[in-house]
Amino acid sequence: MRYLTFALTKGALAEETLNILEKVGITCEEMRDKESRKLVFVNEEQKLKFFLAKGPDVPTYVEYGAADIGIVGRDTILEEGKKLYEVMDLKFSASRMCVCGPASAKAALANKQLIRVATKYPNITKDYFYNKRHQTVEIIKLNGSIELAPMVGLSEVIVDIVETGSTLKENGLEVLEEVCPLSARMVVNQVSMKMEDARIRALIRDLKQIL
Ligand code: PRP
Repeated sequence: MRYLTFALTKGALAEETLNILEKVGITCEEMRDKESRKLVFVNEEQKLKFFLAKGPDVPTYVEYGAADIGIVGRDTILEEGKKLYEVMDLKFSASRMCVCGPASAKAALANKQLIRVATKYPNITKDYFYNKRHQTVEIIKLNGSIELAPMVGLSEVIVDIVETGSTLKENGLEVLEEVCPLSARMVVNQVSMKMEDARIRALIRDLKQIL
């Protein structure tokens, strides 16, 4: 039997993924060791392989078939736009992609003014403003701490992930519009879905029972 390979998103998402996999009898103790610098982990008995990657790279590993399965946030799936099958909503890491800013930015949004939008997600932002809102905007790509942008005058609004809302609140910003709901998803390589159909379907069935 060949190995079924999982690409997990480094960090909290991987930990939660290991928790739910454990519930369906898939274990990889070695991966829990936080001290370890190891990148690829093998479960010989179950013929499974796991590796940790940066979120935005997970869809790439899955599209090329270096991983059969990926567990990654919907934000990343939408932003990367790779060719893969999204087979399951794992429900954890739930949050929302939102347009946020100071209350004073509401009018500029409503009037469809040519505003600047800072974000880590330029593709999601472009799709939302151009295809859904039919508003021309200037998109500024940032890499983190997006909330800073409207506070220091880089942009009028931002498109970012809102989980508890406390980052916004502590910085005097608010949700102005919701773009889409987010959570962790299971994605599958298109060829693997055919070649490993039985194993992948069994895994999805088991996970559905515990979620
Ligand atoms: C995310 C997101 C927000 C924050 C939202 O940032 O970009 O800044 O979490 O969470 P909250 O609604 O619970 O406050 P993250 O901490 O991942 O880091 P980043 O700013 O570097 O993207």
